[in-house]
Order: sequence, then structure tokens, then C-alpha cells
Amino acid sequence: MRVRISDDALAVACGADAVAARFAALGHEVVRVSSWGMHWLEPLVEIDGRGYGPVAASDVEAILDGRGKQLAIGVVADHPFIAAQTRLTFARAGKTQPLSLDDYAATGGWVGLERAHDLGAAAIVAEVTASGLRGRGGAGFPAGIKWNTVRLAPGERKYIVCNADEGDSGTFADRMVMEGDPFMLIEGMAIAGLAVGASKGFVYIRSEYPHAIRKMEAAVRLAAPLIAPFEVEIRVGAGAYVCGEETSLLNSLEGKRGEVRAKPPLPAHEGLFGCPTVINNVLTLAAVPFVLAQGAQAYADYGMGRSRGTMPVQLAGNVKYGGLFETAFGITLGELVEKIGGGTDSGRPVRAVQVGGPLGAYFPPALFDTPFDYEAFAAVDGLIGHGGITVFDDSVDMAKQARFAFDFCAAESCGKCTPCRIGAVRGRETLDKVIAGESAASNLELVADLCETMKFGSLCALGGFTPYPVMSAITHFPEDFGPRTQEAAA
Ligand code: NAI
Ligand code: SF4
Repeated sequence: MRVRISDDALAVACGADAVAARFAALGHEVVRVSSWGMHWLEPLVEIDGRGYGPVAASDVEAILDGRGKQLAIGVVADHPFIAAQTRLTFARAGKTQPLSLDDYAATGGWVGLERAHDLGAAAIVAEVTASGLRGRGGAGFPAGIKWNTVRLAPGERKYIVCNADEGDSGTFADRMVMEGDPFMLIEGMAIAGLAVGASKGFVYIRSEYPHAIRKMEAAVRLAAPLIAPFEVEIRVGAGAYVCGEETSLLNSLEGKRGEVRAKPPLPAHEGLFGCPTVINNVLTLAAVPFVLAQGAQAYADYGMGRSRGTMPVQLAGNVKYGGLFETAFGITLGELVEKIGGGTDSGRPVRAVQVGGPLGAYFPPALFDTPFDYEAFAAVDGLIGHGGITVFDDSVDMAKQARFAFDFCAAESCGKCTPCRIGAVRGRETLDKVIAGESAASNLELVADLCETMKFGSLCALGGFTPYPVMSAITHFPEDFGPRTQEAAA
């Protein structure tokens, strides 16, 4: 019997290797595939299209002799969590072997790159621009415009840099692409190389992703003849959150301290080693093969307003059905949290969700009708960031969450500018006073003032966005910053 089990890091962390070993020991053929992204069901076992999960090694015999019905989820592809998605970037998730060139080619791989060769630089950029694809790292800058800046920038040597320093809490989409469909990312980088005239690309992966690093290194070796003369090299970070900021990442790639550079010059003009550089997030580059293969319109047909295409949303935290949910922009936050995510795992009411990582705003259920869209989120003082949603139930203390934001910023600050380096520490101290019940009103005024300074005076998003979690917590959950917290503290 042929048994399909994911070798994604999350599945492995949940025990997939032991389950695979048990099937193999009983004489069955085990195929290690990418993950479907239904994390609560991992390790997920698929036999003739039908799924079982979460499976422990001790369940294997029961599944084989038909006693594992309580673990059966039916046809995996028809599962409501999968059927409700629009999978453009994650179309192969769960279906292919990550390092099989045959699987990749048989599922439309390299078609985008072939078309890119036929189109030439200007037409590739026009196609990406027409698709409406925006930077999926968080800032949402139009990818085509960035590519065009690099294409037109003078310079003998240009680079493509893929930002795979996925540091936001509750995010894992970049990791899933690198572990599950690495050739798609490599193809996207090669297309970017053709578009701007670059012959070398780097993927900067956080050191905390050892599985992704190994997969990408193997995939780069296998794909080398297919993308030549374009070359891709894997580089590994050293654990600093701020190296996800593009200029800091470039410094780190150059072997320097991971400190933020002032902009301008933009990396598009003077990036890696002073050369014009496209720096894009994994998800941005991974969306490009679809755009080139299917045409800009096929991508732009999805979405709302200026947010075109799909977003791989990552549901995490205290949520019943956590995982990867790729959907067209426009779905509401409430649908994602309550309908798709099934509410909290603890069964208690949802009190808050943080969208966009540790620098993202907290949303109360009153704002759950906000559509997932860059502009709609900005209009309610939030950001979609890299698409991570972290769910909290009614036991969360929002004053402590606000304090955590300052604490995180203080720990991760590169130290280059004063509002962030000093502001984060002073903010934490001031919130400590609020939590201790010391002159809450005047201390909260001080925090608001400090947040204004950090927002407009910081050199990069780390200091500049820390006010989002802090001020959203104070604005939407004021009851946690006064007497209630004092009672709780007592
Ligand atoms: P930004 O708004 O300064 O720039 C966005 C991108 O567009 C950059 O690559 C910039 O170089 C480029 N750009 C801007 N104007 C351009 C032009 N005229 N021509 C060509 N390129 C141009 O944003 P920044 O500071 O790079 O990123 C902030 C975002 O990062 C936030 O929205 C936040 O959500 C996100 N973020 C993501 C994290 C993650 O783990 N993925 C972690 C922390 C923050
Ligand atoms: Fe460094 Fe913080 Fe300033 Fe960014 S905001 S440059 S991380 S000190």
C-alpha cells in the first residue's frame, strides 16, 4: 500500500517520522510529501486520497485493519478547510514530493520561466505589474514597480534577494513554501533575474528553519541546470528579528552587523554590495510563476480594491483549526477567525486577535467585519503584515500584551535610532507603572506620546510599528489598563 505522509517541520515535530517508520516497518511504501497545511490534523496520513489525522505510531495497525475510523477525515482534497480555499501559490501543497523535479514539471513547473524567456525583461515586468502583485512581506509595495526600478537602474551587476527571515510570531507560510515547494521559489527568483538583468540570487533564511535550509540547499543543487546561467545561493541568518528588515538583511548578507541602513538610497538603486537589488519576500517571489504561467489577469481576477490575488493567511495561537488558509483578499477577519479557524481551541470566547506579527495591531471582535485588504486594515489602524493571525481567548491580559510589544522591541532593537532604542525601554517601564496601578491616566498619556514619537521618528518598522500593538490594546481594551489590572495584580 502507498501511504503519503508530510515531511514538513510541523508534521515532523508532531511525530510524522515515527508514523512513517511504522508504516514502512509493516512493509508499506511511504511517500513523504508536502503538508496540506491543516496543522491540527498533523501527522496526517493519506491512503488512496483518504486522510487520517492526527495519527500516532500506535494508531497505524488500527488504520490498516479498518479500526481507525475515529481518525478518518474522508477525501483530503474535499475537506471543508481545503475546499474553501483558493490555492494559487499553495496549489501543490499536500500533493507533491518537495524535491521531485518530475512532480514539479508534471504540475506546471517551469512553464512561467519558459514564458519569461520568450517575453523578455520589459514584458515580464509589465506582466507582474498588471497582475497587481504586492510585496507579501508586509509593506505591500507593488512588485512590478520595484522590479522596474531595478531593471532601469544603471549597473553591470544586479541581484535578486529573497527575504526568508520569517520572524513574525504565528507565521509559517514562507517556511511551508521552502519546505513544500522549493522549486516554485527558485523559479520565481529566476524569472525576477530575467526581468531585471540579474544573474545571481540569494535566499536569506533564518537559522531557526533547519528543515527549510536543507530543502532549499538540495533544491538549488537539483534546479541549477534548469535555471542557468542564473544562480541561487542559500545564506543563513543568525537569529536577529531585525534582519528581516531589508537593509539590515543586506548588511548581514554582506557579512556586516545586522544594522538598519537609512533609506534613501533604496535597495532598488543601491542594494547588495551597492548594486541595484530586488529584495522580495518568499511569498511574493513564489506567486510569480503562476502570474507568468497563467497570465496577469488570472491573478488579478482575485481580490478586492488594490489588493489583488490571494494571500496565504496563517491561523495560529489559541485557535481550533490552525493552519495555512490561502484565499482571495476581501474575506473578513471574522470569517477567518470564527468560521475557518473555528474560534478558540480552549473553547472560550475570542477576545482579541493580533494580525501581522508582534508589530501588528490587536483587533477586538467588534472589528471582525474588516475585510482582509491592505487599505481596509490601514483604515482601522492595523496592518495585514505577512498574513499571520494569532488568536487569544478571554483570559488574555491586554496590558501584559502591550508591555510585551515594548519588551520585544527593546530586545530586538538594532540600536541605531533613539526613538526605538530608548523608547521601547521607557515604554516598558511606564506600562509597568500602569500595571502596578500607579497614576494610570497620566502614564497612559505618556505612553501615547511616546508612541507618536516612535511611530514617526523611528528609522525602520521595528520601532515604527511597535505603537500598533500598544495603542490598539489601549484603545480597544481600556478596561485592562485600569482598576481591573490592579485587582488582578493584587
Ligand atoms: P517600506 O514601505 O519602506 O518599503 C516597502 C518596499 O518597497 C521596500 O522593499 C522598499 O525598498 C521598496 N520601495 C519603496 N519605494 C520604492 C520605489 N520607489 N521603488 C522601488 N522600491 C521601492 O517598508 P519596509 O520598512 O521595507 O517594510 C515594512 C513592512 O515590513 C511592514 O509593513 C511590516 O508589516 C513588515 N514586516 C514584516 C515582517 C516579516 O516577518 N515578514 C517582520 C516585520 C515587519
Ligand atoms: Fe534599529 Fe529600532 Fe531604529 Fe529600526 S527603529 S533602525 S531596529 S533602532
